[in-house]
Amino acid sequence: MAEILPSIFGANLMALKNEITFLEAQGFRTLHLDMMDGSLVPNIAFGPDHVSVIKKNTAMKVDVHLMVSAPEKIIDKVIAAGVDMISIHYEATIHHIDILQRIRKAGIKAGIVYNPSTPLSSLKYLLGYVDYVLLMSINPGHWGQRFLELTFERVQEVRDIIGNKNIAIEIDGGVNAEIATRLREAGVSLIVVGGDLFNGDKMENAARLNAAIAE
Ligand code: DX5
Ligand code: ZN
Repeated sequence: MAEILPSIFGANLMALKNEITFLEAQGFRTLHLDMMDGSLVPNIAFGPDHVSVIKKNTAMKVDVHLMVSAPEKIIDKVIAAGVDMISIHYEATIHHIDILQRIRKAGIKAGIVYNPSTPLSSLKYLLGYVDYVLLMSINPGHWGQRFLELTFERVQEVRDIIGNKNIAIEIDGGVNAEIATRLREAGVSLIVVGGDLFNGDKMENAARLNAAIAE
């Protein structure tokens, strides 16, 4: 069953508490939280202490998308924030297995993220260490970008590599309701949405997005 993960980076930060209450009321179960360091991506957002405060103030699960260079330096702090899922970028480190093991040892689901043009050949070596694979469907760093159609080809490639293993596929960037339906049909179970949920009438957007992934 597919799930929409609201990306808090696209929310109204001046009203974060209200935004989270709204998301809970609409039945969303997992919050997608971007951490950016201004190095791996050209933007800065949320540190581990902010993440910890958000986690303490919601019943939703928190999925941290760690967009930082050398995640090995900060991973212990992110783990200590008590979140439910943490993904690290393949491009950000050479210590993938060590970091993924540290995440899992803490009882947190571990994910590996690939940028849109990064070859997926390493995935077969990581299958024993990940609970989910996050494919970026935009160049990461900003919300409100256009979805890259090549993502569908990559979803199929990941599915072929995963085979029958219990590993979820997450997609992040530029998703709207119509794309969400196509992603669900393609076998994606974790669908991140920022702009298409928070721009305009949130209530209407939430209903449209939830309907788009209903089976
Ligand atoms: C972008 C972030 C995304 C972003 C999604 O670097 O990783 O999570 O907030 O926002 P939209 O859906 O607007 O692309
Ligand atoms: Zn993200």
